[in-house]
Amino acid sequence: MNDSTIPKSTIMIVDDEPEHIESLKEILNQFGFDLQVALNGYRVFELLEETLPDIILLDVLMPEMDGFEVCRRLKEDKKTRDIPVIFMVSLTETVNKVTGLELGAADYIIKPFQKEEVLTRVKTHFIMQQLHLQLDQARQSIDDEVTQRTRELAKSNEQLKKELAEHKRMEKILKQAQKMEAISTLSSGIAHDFNNILSIIIGYGEMAAMENPPKDSKIGECLEKINTAAFRAKELVQQLLTFCRQTEQKKTHIKISPILKYVLNSFKAGFPFAIEIKKEIQEETGMVLADPAQIHQLILNLCQNAGQAMMENGGTLRISLKQVFLDSEKVTEHPNLVSGHYISILIQDMGPGMDQEIVERIFDPYFTTKATGTGLGLSIVHRIIETLKGTIRVESTKGKGTCFIIKLPAS
Ligand SMILES: Nc1ncnc2c1ncn2[C@@H]1O[C@H](COP(=O)(O)OP(=O)(O)OP(=O)(O)O)[C@@H](O)[C@H]1O
Ligand SMILES: [Mg+2]
Repeated sequence: MNDSTIPKSTIMIVDDEPEHIESLKEILNQFGFDLQVALNGYRVFELLEETLPDIILLDVLMPEMDGFEVCRRLKEDKKTRDIPVIFMVSLTETVNKVTGLELGAADYIIKPFQKEEVLTRVKTHFIMQQLHLQLDQARQSIDDEVTQRTRELAKSNEQLKKELAEHKRMEKILKQAQKMEAISTLSSGIAHDFNNILSIIIGYGEMAAMENPPKDSKIGECLEKINTAAFRAKELVQQLLTFCRQTEQKKTHIKISPILKYVLNSFKAGFPFAIEIKKEIQEETGMVLADPAQIHQLILNLCQNAGQAMMENGGTLRISLKQVFLDSEKVTEHPNLVSGHYISILIQDMGPGMDQEIVERIFDPYFTTKATGTGLGLSIVHRIIETLKGTIRVESTKGKGTCFIIKLPAS
């Protein structure tokens, strides 16, 4: 590097002897350095408040604060510790050279000053200083890049995890949908044929009944049983057809509370007094767009399950109805819903609760743990909620009870 390549730089000369200062000025001025002069140690720190020089040339022997003390203070301060300090010592001051270097000085120059020596040492340290700066900048930019890349990697990792979880969720939904579709096709075929056979049984049963056999005769008793069983079978077929979505739906804007009350009234008649009903019904909720028969079936199936769960030991059936608003943050708890108003129905019992294994299967068609159950109740509930674009959540604790929470979009 020649003189012309050295950018403009500032050198601070610290010396209490004016003739030394003058001689240094003479040498350094020729090369276009900006010079600052401090006649004592205290002045050094005043000048540093205004601007930081690139190099400090420091005399050792000065009154009040000597060069060593100045150097110590410079090296203690984060702001100034990287400024190269070059001590100015006389030929005989060997001890001072060593002490200065031990204190962190970069170099020393010998008094009386030799122009070439002063220039060479100053230039060398100036270049080293520039290289240090470039190195620091390069290190900083590598650090920044590494931090940035790490952040990006963490972000894409997070995104990947989310996508994987979503993929798994969709896979599960698809599997469930395929299973339901297969069972639904099979069931609807059987239900249709069975319906035809039932019509024949009911028709002939009624024709036979029209013959008026005596009620207390064996034939009369059998006929009555046949007809009762045939009507029960017809109801079951009806359930099956609903499950397979084969029945006609008449969707209108309806309020849930009257249906809920109606179901609860009939519930009271069918279940023992040991079951207490606790209602928390908000009257002024919005409506839902649904077939009233669907909503009736939905609530009835859930209440019946709750009642059956408390048949043995009694307990409280808690029912709540309210309108809720799911904002963009809350809606994330329900992957299938969009932000908006929903009618929330809660049906809670104090029955025996369920194991996780059972909970995972309750919506499967024909899954039942009851001796006389069809296992269709909850799969119908699930179907209905699906067609209404709502959700159903189950919370069940073994020995404590079960709670179903439904959310249907308010219309
Ligand atoms: N509230 C509840 N408490 C405990 N277990 C329940 C509850 N609700 C449902 N279950 C379990 O889920 C199974 C499936 O219920 P689902 O209503 O589909 O059929 P089911 O009640 O067995 O038969 P059906 O509805 O025809 O009477 C039940 O057999 C029972 O094991
Ligand atoms: Mg049931």
